[in-house]
Amino acid sequence: MGNNTAKLSFNDQTLELPIYKSTFDDQLIDISQLGKQGVFTIDPGFVSTASCESKITYIDGANGVLLYRGYPIEQLAAKSDYLEVCYLLLNGELPTQAEKDDFVNNITNHTMVHQQMFQFFNGFRRDAHPMAVMVGVVGALSAFYHDSLNISSAKHREIAAYRLIAKMPTIAAMCYRYYTGLPFMHPQNEYDYAENFLYMMFGMPTTKWVSNPILSRAMDRIFTLHADHEQNASTSTVRLAGSSGANPFACISAGIGALWGPAHGGANEAVLSMLNEIGDVTRIPEFLKRARDKSDPFRLMGFGHRVYKNYDPRAKIMRETCYEVLEQVGDKNDPILKLAMELEKIALEDDYFVDRKLYPNVDFYSGITLSALGIPTNMFTVIFALARTVGWISHWSEMVSEPGFKIGRPRQLYTGSDKRDFMSLDKR
Ligand code: SDX
Repeated sequence: MGNNTAKLSFNDQTLELPIYKSTFDDQLIDISQLGKQGVFTIDPGFVSTASCESKITYIDGANGVLLYRGYPIEQLAAKSDYLEVCYLLLNGELPTQAEKDDFVNNITNHTMVHQQMFQFFNGFRRDAHPMAVMVGVVGALSAFYHDSLNISSAKHREIAAYRLIAKMPTIAAMCYRYYTGLPFMHPQNEYDYAENFLYMMFGMPTTKWVSNPILSRAMDRIFTLHADHEQNASTSTVRLAGSSGANPFACISAGIGALWGPAHGGANEAVLSMLNEIGDVTRIPEFLKRARDKSDPFRLMGFGHRVYKNYDPRAKIMRETCYEVLEQVGDKNDPILKLAMELEKIALEDDYFVDRKLYPNVDFYSGITLSALGIPTNMFTVIFALARTVGWISHWSEMVSEPGFKIGRPRQLYTGSDKRDFMSLDKR
């Protein structure tokens, strides 16, 4: 990164701070040495703060650009596949055929989970939200691999990545099958990654499963669209957990917890609930009015983004995928899709949304698409977590492999009580 400096003057002192330039000429001021001068900055929600240097994903929010290791998401979604994108995110380059075959073989041979893992599900009520089950079961993976994992070993980090990428579809499908009371379906090596997931979700022990290549391709593309997104809340959670040297399975479990919130990965589930609540195009103005009303906690779910102040490129691809799936299995005139498209059209002409640069994000159409694939609403974020695991583990590995990486330990603006002496009970 190229350097120049910024001057910070206050309390009759002037500090010179280095400025770094990104690959795309973004300028970032390095404030890391301020603490040694007894000076701290505050930035709730990290709106203006970068937490790290990374080479994995780049977002140009103003222009709606998303690059995985420099490759545009549009090209990867159209020409690549999820496991190839996993290799790219983990290793920094697209694989040769031999590298791809080896990677796919490694993932395929790690898809099963230890038989003891089946016991963890029995502790949950059948109607437990699948995300609650996934947080617990993925965290439990650390119990199976903790002692065989030295995070300073590149080989061990690679095996942990294989295990997580391979086992997440198996665990995600188990969460669904447990919820429905259906028997778990074991992964089948004859199927590719997305096909195997749909088999474990919807296959039956009583009948031969017939895969649908168009639906498998759509599922695979949805995984690619959700694979990584630089320092979002859940990825930052994984990095912060990993900065203490914690087991990567426990770190991924922490990321799943962060993803669950409706402001983040839980939004896809919330979008469908919102569309069902709106019900009819005639009620759109009423809900847009609520979204504009600061006294009303209602927000237009699937709209807005911390970084994108333009159309989320993933949302466009997701809308096309939605058409494809509905054409294949549903009805292009699906009333919920029609309602979503009308809502998008009206919102994008509404000054409140235009002035704040609020556009549809990846979650706006994903729920409708997943629904059309037969996936229940409470599984949407589970699928987001499945797909994002490669991003989480890529960032974890990038951080842990940095020589001398530091534990994350933010400071605070304290505005609580002044120092005071303890008061005994009889004097209170
Ligand atoms: C994901 O970070 C990532 O990269 C996340 C993600 C990934 O791949 O990891 O892209 C996935 O989480 C996508 C976002 C999914 N969430 C939603 O769709 C929930 C609805 N969106 C909002 O909650 C909101 O837009 C956020 C949380 C996504 C972003 O919030 P910010 O950056 O804190 O923005 P803000 O709250 O400062 O909003 C700026 C203004 C505010 O109004 P003013 O105070 O300026 O008057 O826009 C308003 C907000 O009230 N606003 C909305 C709105 N989103 C922002 N008003 C109504 N409806 C909305 N959806």
